[in-house]
Amino acid sequence: MSQWLTLSRAAHLLGVSRIALQKRIREGELRSFDGMVAADDLQRAWPELDLDESGSFEKTRAIREDAFARRLRERVLPTQEALAQRLFAQGQELAELQRALTRYHALFETLHQRLAAAPAPAAADLLRLLDEGLARALAAPAPGDDMAALDAMLRVMSAHVTVRPSGREFFVEGSETLLKAALRAGLAPNYGCGNGNCGLCKARVVAGETRAVSPSDYRLSAAEKTQNHVLMCVCTALSSDLVLEVLEAGTPEDIPEQRIVAKVRSIDALNDKVMRLHLQTPRSNRLRFLAGQRVTLGLGPDVAEGSDIHGEYPVASCPCDDRNLIFHVCRADGQGGLCLPEVPLRGPASADFSRCVFDGRIKAGDDISVWGPWGDFVLEKGSVRPLVFIAIDAGFAPVNSLIEHAIAVDAAESITLYWASSQPGGQYLPNQCRAWAAALDEFSYLPLTVDDLSAALAASPGLASSDVFLAGVAELAEPLATALLAGGVPRGQLHVEAV
Ligand code: FES
Repeated sequence: MSQWLTLSRAAHLLGVSRIALQKRIREGELRSFDGMVAADDLQRAWPELDLDESGSFEKTRAIREDAFARRLRERVLPTQEALAQRLFAQGQELAELQRALTRYHALFETLHQRLAAAPAPAAADLLRLLDEGLARALAAPAPGDDMAALDAMLRVMSAHVTVRPSGREFFVEGSETLLKAALRAGLAPNYGCGNGNCGLCKARVVAGETRAVSPSDYRLSAAEKTQNHVLMCVCTALSSDLVLEVLEAGTPEDIPEQRIVAKVRSIDALNDKVMRLHLQTPRSNRLRFLAGQRVTLGLGPDVAEGSDIHGEYPVASCPCDDRNLIFHVCRADGQGGLCLPEVPLRGPASADFSRCVFDGRIKAGDDISVWGPWGDFVLEKGSVRPLVFIAIDAGFAPVNSLIEHAIAVDAAESITLYWASSQPGGQYLPNQCRAWAAALDEFSYLPLTVDDLSAALAASPGLASSDVFLAGVAELAEPLATALLAGGVPRGQLHVEAV
């Protein structure tokens, strides 16, 4: 009899995307039933799976042998209480199985005795069948046993969370908070401070148990406690399965305008035209945004109150990247057509933010005010259509954020990235794009020049059935958008960020 695993657990165990599993189900390689997939089919499809070599077992062994530093152990292991609770639950399941096995064994023995006493030859045949079947069952591990063993390990090491009403799922690793795990999985839950002060991350526990892993100043009301509300930013999962009711942002309108002051962590040249600006938000005041959105950056305490030096930039990092905000800042001279112009869209005054980044007037440790987020260049909620990203030069910044988010969400059937540059080799993060293509079955990366882009898109099948995201300087992006519409891409599926 087959053992069955949920699709998300199977993907998590094998380290593959759910889309890859769904593809094999569609091709008939894996049997599935009610959102579950057969463990023996999985083991046949991934014969290289070796229990002793699996990451989970290695991790546990390393922890046991005390090879990790204390902090790392704390991060990868659930709390002692969670471990105890999950092991207790598994113990109960095992005891239940053992009771059932004892009854089956008794039944088998009775059957065996009766057949032995029954007249031959029909009874002798049945007796032989029974003995041979039992010998086979005891002789070798059944297909799928390793998967089932790994699943049992996974249920102890990480908790599976189902979110209502969206139906999204994510895993809580070690003793990380529910909020951190949800963001890592590409969810957009409601939250504010990130450390137990504001109460915005409240969620209702529908099934399962949670525990606080850090203190909080926010006090839940008696009614909220009765209704099982918890703060996602300070709680982790205790039980191995959890169902939460969570308020999630689906559109840019769901995200409030925010003003925060972030610190410059580093500034590095990606090439001679583009700088990577890495900001870090305070622990108690993170920026909430959707992948693909922009913010206004400025020198001074509050860009919204008027900063002489400011500019509007797409966030190049994913909202799942915790407190880190990455920007690709272009040289302001625009030589070579590689740069986005600075766009002084907000605030009473504007000057050259990008020159300050390039000439060293902005440096590590400086305060930068962040105001936003803006824009609706975001993934469509609930869409499972293939994703096609077209980045022109540094239009790659918002595309990078969208791709990282799409990979975390793991919902699109396939992802294709065209990165066109105005000059040969202008793709300033080629290794990262190649790494995506190497790691993900359904990811294609096509670097090309701006001159070759239109022809490549015209020859690309399936654009009309995809969600298409196009970002780049307006004079190149807008005519291309017109051509894509004329070529059959539905208006509702074409998203353009002309910067
Ligand atoms: S985000 Fe503020 S209390 Fe959780």
